[in-house]
Amino acid sequence: MMKDAAPKTIYLEDYTPFGYVVESVHLTFHLAPTATRVVSRIAFAPNPDATDGTFLLHGEDLTLIRARIDGEEITPDLTEDGLRCAVPDTPFIWEAEVEISPQTNTALEGLYMSNGMYCTQCEAEGFRKITYYPDRPDVMSIFTVRIEGEEKVKLSNGNPVGSGAGWAEWHDPWPKPAYLFALVAGDLVNHPDRFTTMSGKDVDLNIWVRPGDEDKCAFGMEALKKSMTWDEEVYGREYDLNIFNIVAVDDFNMGAMENKGLNVFNSSCVLASPETSTDSNFERIEAIIAHEYFHNWTGNRITCRDWFQLCLKEGLTVFRDSQFTADMRSEPVKRISDVIDLRARQFPEDQGPLSHPVRPESFQEINNFYTATIYEKGAEVIGMLKTLVGDDAYSRALDLYFDRHDGQACTIEDWLAVFEDATGRDLAQFKLWYSQSGTPRVAVSEDWTDGVYTLTFKQHTPPTPGQDVKDPKVIPIAVGLLNPNGDEVVPTRVLEMTQAEQSFAFDGLASKPVPSILRGFSAPIVVDREVSREERAFLLAHDTDAFNRWEANRNLARDCLVAMIRDGAGPDNAWLDGLERVIRDDSLDPAFRALMLSLPTQSEMAQVLFDLFTVPDPDAIWQASEDLRGHMAVAWQGFLPDLRATVAVDAPYAPDADQAGKRSLGSALLALQTRLDGGAAAQAQYGAADNMTLQLSALSQLISAGKGDAAVKAFEDQWHHDRLVMDKWFGLQVGMAKPDVAVDVAQRLVQHPAFDMGNPNRFRAVMGGFAMNHAGFHRKDGEGYAFLADWLIALDDRNPQTTARMCSVFQTWKRYDTNRQGLIRAQLERIKAKPKLSRDTDEMVSRILG
Ligand code: ARG
Ligand code: ZN
Repeated sequence: MMKDAAPKTIYLEDYTPFGYVVESVHLTFHLAPTATRVVSRIAFAPNPDATDGTFLLHGEDLTLIRARIDGEEITPDLTEDGLRCAVPDTPFIWEAEVEISPQTNTALEGLYMSNGMYCTQCEAEGFRKITYYPDRPDVMSIFTVRIEGEEKVKLSNGNPVGSGAGWAEWHDPWPKPAYLFALVAGDLVNHPDRFTTMSGKDVDLNIWVRPGDEDKCAFGMEALKKSMTWDEEVYGREYDLNIFNIVAVDDFNMGAMENKGLNVFNSSCVLASPETSTDSNFERIEAIIAHEYFHNWTGNRITCRDWFQLCLKEGLTVFRDSQFTADMRSEPVKRISDVIDLRARQFPEDQGPLSHPVRPESFQEINNFYTATIYEKGAEVIGMLKTLVGDDAYSRALDLYFDRHDGQACTIEDWLAVFEDATGRDLAQFKLWYSQSGTPRVAVSEDWTDGVYTLTFKQHTPPTPGQDVKDPKVIPIAVGLLNPNGDEVVPTRVLEMTQAEQSFAFDGLASKPVPSILRGFSAPIVVDREVSREERAFLLAHDTDAFNRWEANRNLARDCLVAMIRDGAGPDNAWLDGLERVIRDDSLDPAFRALMLSLPTQSEMAQVLFDLFTVPDPDAIWQASEDLRGHMAVAWQGFLPDLRATVAVDAPYAPDADQAGKRSLGSALLALQTRLDGGAAAQAQYGAADNMTLQLSALSQLISAGKGDAAVKAFEDQWHHDRLVMDKWFGLQVGMAKPDVAVDVAQRLVQHPAFDMGNPNRFRAVMGGFAMNHAGFHRKDGEGYAFLADWLIALDDRNPQTTARMCSVFQTWKRYDTNRQGLIRAQLERIKAKPKLSRDTDEMVSRILG
């Protein structure tokens, strides 16, 4: 729907069941790039649970060739959103034939073509671009699919039931909503394997790729088998078809999609090799393969009643994939990384104009709600629930969930009810985490009187769009106490805060303890507490909780940068001495030490300053970050090269946590060393690198030292044929550019022959990389904003989803000075005024403008 029509808002409270059940679906595809014919034969019956008998089939961009009911030709009413017609009040057969054009489908939603290959993306509402259908997740049915075409490989959901010259047929025995439908056809090659499930069933596994990419599948396949085993062992969930297919697609709007038995992946989220992928790529691929696989139970076998319940599957599946990564790798490192990510992506969302509850109550375009709040805060909410009820009760509740709801389309109420029934606990207050948006802030004060130590917490959630007043939530606050010698005197205990203000007393202590609050980041909140540098330094040295040790350091780093930016102070040497002890402590995991060494991002500092009622100046933040790094390099020059040598990896490259941790500490140290040697060590590393992790970290240091030209050119010569590697090349140059030239670099990159705005990965590499260059993007004269807006306007007709998503880089605009706010507002208004702006982008820009 285009903006000339009034944008329509959908409300959770308006939910009603569909008037018909779908007993079976038969689809036949006659593939042709610009004229694919889709023939559907659908058995409908009146739904005894429904009150509204309107027969509405969704449809978009379809050419209806014919429609029949029980064999009789009919002429339905066609509207912008689909088709309506009179139907019998007894079971009937619907038949239709439509024509669609995959080749010209640049929105990458529905059936489209990528590099000559047919593929689909139906979540959330893409199936309606394939044929007329009740495209809503509570309508589940059994699909049989026949594909006719000359492509070598033709795949759909479920099990293969037959194939011959020019055709293939698939049958999926598990009822599913249309958003889980998938079809892939093309000249693909596979990387095959097998898996035997816990009950002894053999499953064929395949990763399908374009010829030439076969050698990049082995890691993904191992990740898949690990995921299958883990879900059996930890959740008791077994796979339920004879075959599991994964396909890599180059042009894809998101990461990956859990279509039943036929997961479709952005090639960047599945293809991996040491030469072309970094350690972080490997870890991310392992997590995404697990995520999509885990959806088979949390998403597919049990799905969502409506899209307001999206967190039911996404929050839970993110929570499950985080548990998996913690088990496969390092638990504290995973936790710290998740919190860094939550604060970088979800906190700005929850504290700005796009703030929405984990379960939203209205939307215009559901694609705009695949957000960090639904996914990552949704996972945090489940983590809190598990903390509150305990591990055993969590397992019992999950067993009950799978037992009770298998084959159903469910709600958050169903989800909470299994926890209430398994534990006897009343979760009415807990449910506020699903309905109230915003990040709660918890102020902490302490008292030490007559040998009793008391912590008092006050919670407050600032107003968010549509929600001025908030009720107190249940907040699990994990706390431990240390005595002044640094020994833990009270091990971690979860304080359950339920009131607006609440105190917790500890007695039997010999001396006033030092508290370690919100251990493991036990709730997605902001803790407001005045803490002295000495106390933070004490926790940095002694806390037994790895997360809070990291957190103490983070706070010291933030305080140091604030003092440098705001008060013109010098770096905090006492902190740096404490940090030095940690990073030189070889009993600690190198990955953890690397996290300790990473400074707050410039965007994070902008928020910190804003919270201190100081208007952030991006140039000053950039300068202070540079000065601090320079100071660290000089202060530590005596040991940097030696320390870096201790984490050098001699063994052949492996993407495991151990080696990856060493390389990540090595690369953090290289960044400092480069400030001393002007790029000599980086140049040496670049020359010797036999894997992408080392090559890329060296390249990024050379660029930041202003010595990157030759390496940038050499890298392009070496990798111009590899799209995924070239995405890194694009992103790195604009991301690492000095702020005053970032816009020029971005402008140069979009002129490069390999820049292709139709490919979402490439578009995001440049535009996302540019927006991450905080001071470059926020250039005072507004050129950065104008550049990005130009490209959003250019992409909107072609690909609304990717355009709308990229708009969120403007969501933090109210942090900045009035001049910059004016410049951003002007660009947002310019986007909004674009003729025929998509519904996706229109909704995003309107919400950001507020
Ligand atoms: N369900 C997919 C996942 O695993 C993502 C689908 C995103 N869809 C969208 N329209 N943005 O997370
Ligand atoms: Zn998901």
